Amino acid sequence: MNNFNFYSPTEFVFGKGRAKETGFYVKKYGGTKVLIHYGGGSALRSGLVDTVKESLTAEGIAFAELGGVQPNPRDTLVYKGIELCRSEGVDLILAIGGGSVIDSAKAIAMGVPYEGDFWDFYSGKHAEKALPVGTVLTIAAAGSEGSGDSVITKEDGMLKRGTGSDAIRPKFSMLDPALTQTLPAYQTACGATDIMAHVFERYFTNTKEVEITDRLCEAVLMTMVKETPRVIADPNNYDARANIMWAGMVAHNNIVGVGREQDWNSHNIEHELSALYDCAHGAGLAVIFPAWMEFVYKHDIMRFAQVAVRVWGVKMNFADPEATALEGIKRFRQFLRSIGMPINFAELGAKEEDIPVLVEKLGIGDGETGGFVHLKAADIAEIYRIAARAEL
Ligand code: NZQ
Ligand code: ZN
Repeated sequence: MNNFNFYSPTEFVFGKGRAKETGFYVKKYGGTKVLIHYGGGSALRSGLVDTVKESLTAEGIAFAELGGVQPNPRDTLVYKGIELCRSEGVDLILAIGGGSVIDSAKAIAMGVPYEGDFWDFYSGKHAEKALPVGTVLTIAAAGSEGSGDSVITKEDGMLKRGTGSDAIRPKFSMLDPALTQTLPAYQTACGATDIMAHVFERYFTNTKEVEITDRLCEAVLMTMVKETPRVIADPNNYDARANIMWAGMVAHNNIVGVGREQDWNSHNIEHELSALYDCAHGAGLAVIFPAWMEFVYKHDIMRFAQVAVRVWGVKMNFADPEATALEGIKRFRQFLRSIGMPINFAELGAKEEDIPVLVEKLGIGDGETGGFVHLKAADIAEIYRIAARAEL
């Protein structure tokens, strides 16, 4: 196991009905004037925004509001949010929604105290300070409620880029699984795919002797395999929703990834799909991740065989471990299809002829990316080709 620091200071407030306590936690973390930030309307329709407003008013906290965050959140709304916060004297940003809203809130939080263009933070600069961020989560997926990451799309050229800093880790996150019961099955499945992808990015590693994090990863994956079909079949299954919501946090605050080299190529490769086609991140991952697995599994057949046996219940073929590894990848793709995810370009709405554009936009030039297997541009083009033509 490698040396590591693990810093995860967010206070998680978990359980049914707990969004009503939001005002209390805003006050606890020093908010006196809040920007309520939300998406395209689901949090308004469910009455959640009103519930949160009432809890703020009950604590004597003033607020401004800015809705309209799109999935794959855009820089243009971030600029508006920064101006609004400055003119209103906002001292805490409250995201009500999913990863897109939370990431947009984090971008605004970094931008307000910064004199330059906030996009600098998505072009390599590290953010040292930010306004405090709180979240009221409505979809289990991105894990942004417990992460120090944010991903924003620049409308000019549709460039999707990420940044990471402990300054933007939420101070608190309200996690009420019942809030996710209004999600359409497709969004639920996209979220589940993203959660599993966050684990796989960490699971495939060259670091040896990482039994504890291997087992934690497998626990999260097995939970998702069990619980996702239950919520697809019954969206109101609170207990399954609760397990998935906590799995989404655990999958991405890095407790399952510390002390081990991680990969992250599939995420980078996917981000170009959601940037170009504006598809859901989770749906893009459903198409890319099994294709990446097929391209790299020979790098460590036994690791792929291990996940096949432990998570997918494949019987180990000692005479032919490669067959076991491949069976695991096949089961993953079958699972994705069973929860309604696309598995190839056509089902996602992507085009094979766009592959050169996708590779070009990744911007790796003659370089290499990834931790588990280093990929060059030609390798990534091949992964897109496998993804384009995948079948069960
Ligand atoms: O906009 P509204 O109307 O709220 O609808 C949203 C949106 O259309 C809807 N939704 C959310 N909660 C709902 C609901 N509909 C009904 N009932 C509810 N309770 O779901 C749609 C998707 O929301 P979004 O926030 O985009 O989903 P997600 O949480 O998957 O976030 C995706 C974004 O996060 C980024 C992705 O790249 C993508 O831009 N990621 C962020 C990460 C991070 N910050 O750590 C890591 C991830 O790997 C990921 O890259
Ligand atoms: Zn993700």
